Amino acid sequence: SHSPWTGRPIVLVGLMGVGKSTVGRRLAIRLAVPFVDADHEIESAAGMTVAEIFERFGEPYFRDGERRVIGRLMDGAPKVIATGGGAFIDETTRALILDQSTAIWLNAHPDVLAERVRRRDTRPLLRGRDPRRVLADLAVARDPFYAQAHIHVSSQRGPHETTVAAILKAIG
Ligand code: S3P
Repeated sequence: SHSPWTGRPIVLVGLMGVGKSTVGRRLAIRLAVPFVDADHEIESAAGMTVAEIFERFGEPYFRDGERRVIGRLMDGAPKVIATGGGAFIDETTRALILDQSTAIWLNAHPDVLAERVRRRDTRPLLRGRDPRRVLADLAVARDPFYAQAHIHVSSQRGPHETTVAAILKAIG
């Protein structure tokens, strides 16, 4: 497509490993709008990695920063935003995203996600734990929230271009 996307911001939500950042970056190119990775924004605001924030200040502190950063990103300008897997679980953040953007739930079976996340993953929620177990538990706890997103798209099959095509079709 030649002319840039002029619709509401598109926010990708879903579990770790589902492809939010990779798919989001490619989607933004196709729509000719900026791509923003919310976790990267949090890291540059804090001057620390997500892992360091969790380690030094704890998860609630991270969620506060995440809520603020996503609030700032919801300025109405067309863009694609990849969120960290827990962002949409926060009630305030979720309400904001649902109100201000088109929320897209990227989903795949937790076993597929566990295979996709690297073995030595730096994600604090996976550290030293069995990713299959963690992701299965998170799916049970979080899917009811993710299901509130406006659009549901599977990234189960890959490649990422297939997922991007499915999103483009869904948003018209
Ligand atoms: C988290 C997911 C991570 C990151 C943090 C917490 C979560 O983002 O925000 O480690 O709660 O699911 P990704 O979904 O990009 O891995």
